[in-house]
Amino acid sequence: MSGVDTIRLALPGRGYDTVIGYGLLDEAARWLGPLLPRRRAIAICDDTVARLHLSRLQNGLARAGIAVENVTLPPGEGSKDFAHLERVIDRLLDLQVARDDVVVALGGGVIGDLAGFAASILRRGIGIVQIPTTLLAQVDSAVGGKTGINTRHGKNLVGTIHQPVCVLVDLATLATLPLRQRRAGYAEIVKYGALGDAAFFAWLEDAGSRVIAGAPDLLQHAVTTSIRAKAGIVMADERETGERALLNLGHTFGHAFEAAAGYDGRLLHGEAVSAGMVAAFALSAALGLCPAGDVARLRTHLAAVGLPTDLAAVAGAGWSPEALLGHMAQDKKVKDGALRFVLARGIGRAFVSAAVPAAAVRAALAATLERAP
Ligand code: NAD
Ligand code: GLY
Repeated sequence: MSGVDTIRLALPGRGYDTVIGYGLLDEAARWLGPLLPRRRAIAICDDTVARLHLSRLQNGLARAGIAVENVTLPPGEGSKDFAHLERVIDRLLDLQVARDDVVVALGGGVIGDLAGFAASILRRGIGIVQIPTTLLAQVDSAVGGKTGINTRHGKNLVGTIHQPVCVLVDLATLATLPLRQRRAGYAEIVKYGALGDAAFFAWLEDAGSRVIAGAPDLLQHAVTTSIRAKAGIVMADERETGERALLNLGHTFGHAFEAAAGYDGRLLHGEAVSAGMVAAFALSAALGLCPAGDVARLRTHLAAVGLPTDLAAVAGAGWSPEALLGHMAQDKKVKDGALRFVLARGIGRAFVSAAVPAAAVRAALAATLERAP
C-alpha cells in the first residue's frame, strides 16, 4: 500500500501511532495484529457505520485469523449517555472482556468518545483502537485521548483522558459521509490554521473546496497536517493545563450555540464551531487585538466553503445575547466564575485569555445573532 502517513504521538508509556491513508480497513491486520494478543477485537459502532464499513474491518482482520465481535448502538448524540454506556459495558462483560482485550471504536466522535470512556473504566482500563469514520473524528476527536458522555447538565461533563493504542484513519470511509458532515468536519481543519498555522490557512483558502469534495491528495494533506498539529499540542499539554485549550478556538461560543439549538440538528458541532470561530475573531478585533482584515479573511473562507459564519440562519425566537451567555456560564471552561476564551492576534496566532469584559462578549453575541446570512 502506498501513500500512508504515520504520526507518532509520543507520551511516556502510552505513545501511539496515527496511520492515515486510503483502504486501511482492508489492511487492518497489518497495524492491529500486533496489538491483539487474544486474536479477537470487539468493535463498537453505530448502526449506520456497521452497515457501511464493519464488514471491511471484519474481512481485514479475518485475513490474520482475528475474529471481530461487535456491539452496535443507535446513531446520534443521544447514544452518548449513561444508559448507552451501561449497555456497552454490560455487553463487553457478557463477552468476558479481559485486561488484554482491545476495543475498537469504529465511527464518528460519538462512538469514539463513548467507547473510549467505556474502555477507560472497564477492568480499570483496557486498550482502545480508534478508527474514526467522520472527518471531524479523524482530525480531532480520535486523537488525543479525550473520552466522555453527556449528562442532563451538559455535554462531555463526565469523562476521562485515555489514550488509544493506535488510530487508523481510513480516508476511504469518507466516501459515504454526507456532504454536510464533511463540511462540518472541515471547520475543525480550518481551526488548526486559524489557531496556529497561517501558512496552512492560506493553503486551505486555495484548496478547501477540493478538500471537502474529497480530492485524495489534498484531503490526505489536510487531515495529516491537522493531526500533526493536534498531536504536537497534546504532547505538550496532555491534560489541558495550558496550550491544549487552544484547540477550543470557537468552542466556547460554539457550545453555547449548540446548546441554544437544543442539539436538534439545526447546527452540527462543526457548524457551531465555524460560527464560533468567527465570533471569537470578531471579539478579538473588538478588543483591539486582531486586525479586522483577518476576521474578514476567516469569514470569507468559511462562507466560501458553505459553512455558517453567524447564527442569523438558525437562531430561533428567544435567542438573545443573555440566553447565550447563560449557556456559556454552564460551559466547563468556566474557571473561578470567569469564562476563558481563546482569542487571536491574527490568523495563526491564538491565545487563551481569562479576562474578557462581559460587555464585549455580549456585543459579539448580539453581532452573530443579527448579521444577515
Ligand atoms: P457522530 O459520531 O454522531 O457522526 C455523525 C453521523 O455520521 C452519525 O449519524 C454517524 O452514523 C454518521 N457516520 C459516521 N461515519 C460515517 C460514514 N463514514 N459514512 C456515513 N455516515 C457516517 O458525530 P461526529 O461529528 O463524528 O462527532 C461529534 C461528537 O464528537 C460529539 O459528541 C463531540 O462532543 C465529540 N468530540 C469529541 C472530541 C474529543 O476530543 N474527544 C473532539 C471533538 C468532538
Ligand atoms: N477537541 C479538543 C481536545 O482534544 O482537546
